Parts: sequence; C-alpha cells; structure tokens
Amino acid sequence: MPMKKILEASRYIQSKHALKPRIGIVLGSGLGIYVDEIQEKVVIPYDEIPHFKRTSVEGHSGALILGSVRGVPVAALQGRLHAYEGYELEDIVLPVRTLAQLGIEYLFLTNASGGINGNFHPGDLVAISDHINLSGKNPLVGPNLSELGPRFPDMGNAYDKDLRLVLHATAARTGVGLKDGVYCSVLGPTYETPAEIRMLRTLGADLVGMSTVHEVIAANHIGLKVAGVACVTNYAAGIKEEKLSHADVKVVAEKAMIGFATVLTETIQELKKIGKV
Ligand code: HPA
Repeated sequence: MPMKKILEASRYIQSKHALKPRIGIVLGSGLGIYVDEIQEKVVIPYDEIPHFKRTSVEGHSGALILGSVRGVPVAALQGRLHAYEGYELEDIVLPVRTLAQLGIEYLFLTNASGGINGNFHPGDLVAISDHINLSGKNPLVGPNLSELGPRFPDMGNAYDKDLRLVLHATAARTGVGLKDGVYCSVLGPTYETPAEIRMLRTLGADLVGMSTVHEVIAANHIGLKVAGVACVTNYAAGIKEEKLSHADVKVVAEKAMIGFATVLTETIQELKKIGKV
C-alpha cells in the first residue's frame, strides 16, 4: 500500500501545480516562517492531500508549499509528523517520499534541538554531521519497497559531506555562525532527564531531539542527498537549572530564523551556481 499512497499523493499535488521541485525542505518547530522566502508559491494544506495526516503539534501548521527560491524550484513541508504523536512511521515519512516522487534530489531538514555539547548555546545553528537513532523505530521495518531502494541501505554518508561543505562555506561567506554536530533522536514526548543527557553525551551526541532521523532514513533509502540544520533552542536537561518548555523552544527558533534563512537560501543559490540543481 505505501507505493499506492505515494503515487496518489504526488498525482494530486501535480494536479494543483505542474512544478517539478529539485529541492525539498522540511521545516521544524518555529522555522515554518521560512516559507516567506519562497516565491510564486502554491500552498496545499495537508488536509487536502490524499493520505497525508494533519500534524497535531503547536507551531507546525501542516501544508506543502511549492514555489521557487532564487529561481530554483522547491517544495517545502511546513509542519511535520512525529512518532510521539502516535503516527505510524509509514505516515511520518510519506511526505518526504512524495517529494522524492515529485522529483527532488536534495532534501534539507531542519529541527529544534536541545544542546548537549558544552560549546552549543540557545540560538546556535548546527549542521548535522551524523545521527544516532535512539527513537526505537525505523521507517523501513516491514516489506522492503524495492521500487524506492534497497533492503539494507548504507547510512555512511546519511548527511551528505559535499552538501555540508557547501552549507559551511555559505555560512562563512555570509557571516552566519554554523557549528557541526551529531544529532540523537529520542521518541519523546517528555524532555530527557539529566541522567539521560549524561548518557547521550557519553554516547557521542551533541544534540537531542524528537524528529528528523526517520525522514533522513527514508530519504537515504531513496538515494536523496540530505542536509540537516538544527537550531539549538535550549540547553539539554541538567546543563542549566531552567525548566524546558515548548513555548521557549519556539521563541528561540524564531529568533534564529534570519541566520537560518540566509544560510538556506544562499546555499540553494550556490547549488544552482555550481550546476547541481
Ligand atoms: N530534547 C528533546 N527534544 C527537543 C529539545 C530537547 O531538549 N529541544 C527541542 N527539541
């Protein structure tokens, strides 16, 4: 059934707009406002798209936006589904698989994360170099969709090195701070305990969050080139005395938006300049 859902969703989207996007963008908590950077846009609410589930999280409204950034056709997912909401993993990765069906080759994912690394502070932007999937779930469990990719996908370059170099070069050129780090995903919805954060630090995690890895796995299965940019919205549990709240997470992400928008938009322009899209 998943292939049928992908095809029905992508056909519906194409019936609304004939654009063939080259780049997909997944906008995390507080970063949805990036859609303001997209020109000539057509907005399709998730409700309308066959098989797409609405998101239930505050700060994620749930719409697909087709348009262009610096002349490059893009498709952005504003609002994503999380495993902690109780969705099936197949539903969580359907939007990314649908964008691949529409023709994207590059996928930029963004998220709000807790900073574990002692050098990370709220408001920092971090290029994700690799991940640790501690969510306990993997979207490829079940019969392999061999039309999409192999049974045992390689994850050695899950966050494409070349794409990350372009992100860093663009950030340096535009004067936006961009760090580098390993993202660990947990299921949530509770924030972590201080003991869990000490464990994650020992395991090699720099950031922690409740999203991203399932979409990254599905994208790698298909062979997309993936980049991830995290916005550090808070110190992870136990690092400072403060309580964690989703409202604070959103406020910090919104403040980091200008730097984030600059890096993403200029990176898309650079990919065009070097003939990648
Ligand atoms: N933990 C998990 N997910 C998060 C956090 C965090 O500290 N901040 C933003 N998303």
